[in-house]
Amino acid sequence: MTRARRPFVAATFAMTVDGKITTRAFSPVDFTSREDKRHLLRQRSLGDAVLIGRSTLTRDNVRLGLPDPAMRAEREARGQAAYPLRVIVSNEGRIDPALNIFQTDFSRIVIFSTTRMPRKFQVALREKATLRLSETRTVDLPRMLQQLRSEYGVRRVACEGGAELFRGLLELQLVDQLNLTIAPYVFGGKGAPTLTGRGSTFLPASVHCSLGGMRVVGDECFAEYRLKYPRPKKS
Ligand SMILES: NC(=O)c1ccc[n+]([C@@H]2O[C@H](COP(=O)([O-])OP(=O)(O)OC[C@H]3O[C@@H](n4cnc5c(N)ncnc54)[C@H](OP(=O)(O)O)[C@@H]3O)[C@@H](O)[C@H]2O)c1
Repeated sequence: MTRARRPFVAATFAMTVDGKITTRAFSPVDFTSREDKRHLLRQRSLGDAVLIGRSTLTRDNVRLGLPDPAMRAEREARGQAAYPLRVIVSNEGRIDPALNIFQTDFSRIVIFSTTRMPRKFQVALREKATLRLSETRTVDLPRMLQQLRSEYGVRRVACEGGAELFRGLLELQLVDQLNLTIAPYVFGGKGAPTLTGRGSTFLPASVHCSLGGMRVVGDECFAEYRLKYPRPKKS
């Protein structure tokens, strides 16, 4: 899909020196600095929408807000809403309506899921979010991005993971930028996921990342990569 028909997608992750984004228990783990937390908020503040997978939403129980009034003011000065649209992706749709995100109403929440979502979840979640349920078994990510662009005016998506969602987007060549924090820890263990999860399979093709910028603060490195995909062969 050409970029003109979908938003720009920037993903933001922190990983350990050995490439782990969390522990093998997938528990919320705090291994980065205050600077990194601010970096994540800054990236979020650039998006018209912030995108998250069901597992990260559930495990980290995030609200996806922007606590800093200065970031909200900058958004408004750019012509954006004060807070980004909050977008959740789930195939099965078993999203707990008691999660923190649903207790806040500072911006609209849109859930892209399928009709596999059990009815009781549909009823409870409809009160708190807009449900976009497709008849397919899985969410069609290119179509979701198209809809975000055409129906919600989203030009830039700030994707906050997790690994499964990132991998799904990457396999479809739908990630344009990766903001990667390298934190000064080594976790070890093959059970702890990397950026693309803990599956043992290769991506369909390796993705070339071009380093667009890098800064070092204390023991952390903040890298910004542009992702490059091979052009489709002309037949
Ligand atoms: N270090 C970091 O920067 C960072 C960033 C983000 C997350 N994390 C950590 O990563 C862990 C979660 O990783 P994860 O890979 O399990 O999480 P994830 O990608 O957030 O969630 C996976 C779930 O999201 C839904 N999903 C993912 N891709 C989808 C697609 N293409 N279409 C439709 N639904 C899709 C599915 O939900 P259903 O099962 O409901 O169908 C899937 O089970 C957490 O421990 C979190 O703390 C770390």
